[in-house]
Amino acid sequence: MSEGLRLGMIGAGGMARSLATAAAELDDCKVVCVQDPLSDPAQQLAAELGADSCQQLEELLSRSDVDAVVVAAPNYLHKELTVAAAGAGKHIFCEKPMALSAADAQQMIAAAREAGVKLMIGQVLRYVPPFAWIKDFIDADNLGEPFAMQTTRISGPWHGHYAQSWRMQREKCGGPLFEISAHEIDYMRQLLGEARSVYAHLGQFTYFEVDYEDLAYVMVNFEDNKVGCLLAGFASHMGAYDGKILCTDGTLFFTDFGGGVSYQRRGEEEPTTLTGDEVGEGYEPGVRREMREFVEAVLNDTEPTIPGEEGLRNTEIAEAAHISGEQGQPVSLPLSGTESRRRAKAAMATARGQG
Ligand SMILES: NC(=O)c1ccc[n+]([C@@H]2O[C@H](COP(=O)([O-])OP(=O)(O)OC[C@H]3O[C@@H](n4cnc5c(N)ncnc54)[C@H](O)[C@@H]3O)[C@@H](O)[C@H]2O)c1
Repeated sequence: MSEGLRLGMIGAGGMARSLATAAAELDDCKVVCVQDPLSDPAQQLAAELGADSCQQLEELLSRSDVDAVVVAAPNYLHKELTVAAAGAGKHIFCEKPMALSAADAQQMIAAAREAGVKLMIGQVLRYVPPFAWIKDFIDADNLGEPFAMQTTRISGPWHGHYAQSWRMQREKCGGPLFEISAHEIDYMRQLLGEARSVYAHLGQFTYFEVDYEDLAYVMVNFEDNKVGCLLAGFASHMGAYDGKILCTDGTLFFTDFGGGVSYQRRGEEEPTTLTGDEVGEGYEPGVRREMREFVEAVLNDTEPTIPGEEGLRNTEIAEAAHISGEQGQPVSLPLSGTESRRRAKAAMATARGQG
């Protein structure tokens, strides 16, 4: 690929625009075609990028000048689009949430493996400061070993075009643990390792225009008795984003998405506080970094930095939270394939029925 990576966009919505814009900034990547069943957004984004546009997936996938695709369509389509792209021999960058069930995520991984193509998942939060900075700071052994984390991401209802979209239906978006907190779940795993079990309380209290929970409390037990607790959903009249990370030799709090950080080490009398600008200094914008790393993985034939297996683990935690919420009991991981497949089939049948 002497001319760099030639990319096709699947979807021309808000996230496709951010990913395509970031990709277009890279020296060794060019967006050649944008596909969306709606011609207006496809044509508009394509015009901005100097690319072609089309409405049919088959047209995009049959192009020999497309080496790789970015799946930035609604969540419930990620599996079928990824499997189709792999079948056409295209490398795939798929947005989070990877899938709406672990069974689907496994199929996506298998399809990419069989086709010999790369599969990377857009778990971008881990690349966004302060999250990237915090992970680097902890990895550099500044606070000892992280063993507990609490994170909150709450808001009120969807607004604007979101409130008219696929995001209103469970079968299409998965609810807050898939659509939004795929990020927080991924970040907890970055710090605490692999999950062993999940216990969740889900409910619907203030937002009845959606057909899914507006509140999720999720407790995840990680290996070595580490624990993560997530409060998520749309039931809050005030938005909030914050987190607390407890480590053996220090404690760190973060406030706001992209905001500041404070930490205090064992023996210190005062916390050290850094602003969002201070922790963000020197960090590449998250979306550009994930696109760059995907392009590098394909061009250099290396393992993607966020492979499908990472998306699978995150999907499995969200799915286990739903099962736990239904059953009122902790759910062990990994999920049994049978349970995940049953739920995936039921969800897809309902989504198809709703058009
Ligand atoms: N990483 C992040 O922080 C982040 C942020 C926003 C969205 N996302 C993810 O990106 C994806 C897209 O979200 P969005 O905000 O762009 O949604 P959006 O509703 O703005 O756009 C979705 C687009 O997909 C198109 N589409 C529908 N069916 C399609 C199909 N079969 N093939 C191709 N395109 C199709 C729609 O016509 C629409 O233009 C979702 O999975 C979402 O979770 C990630």
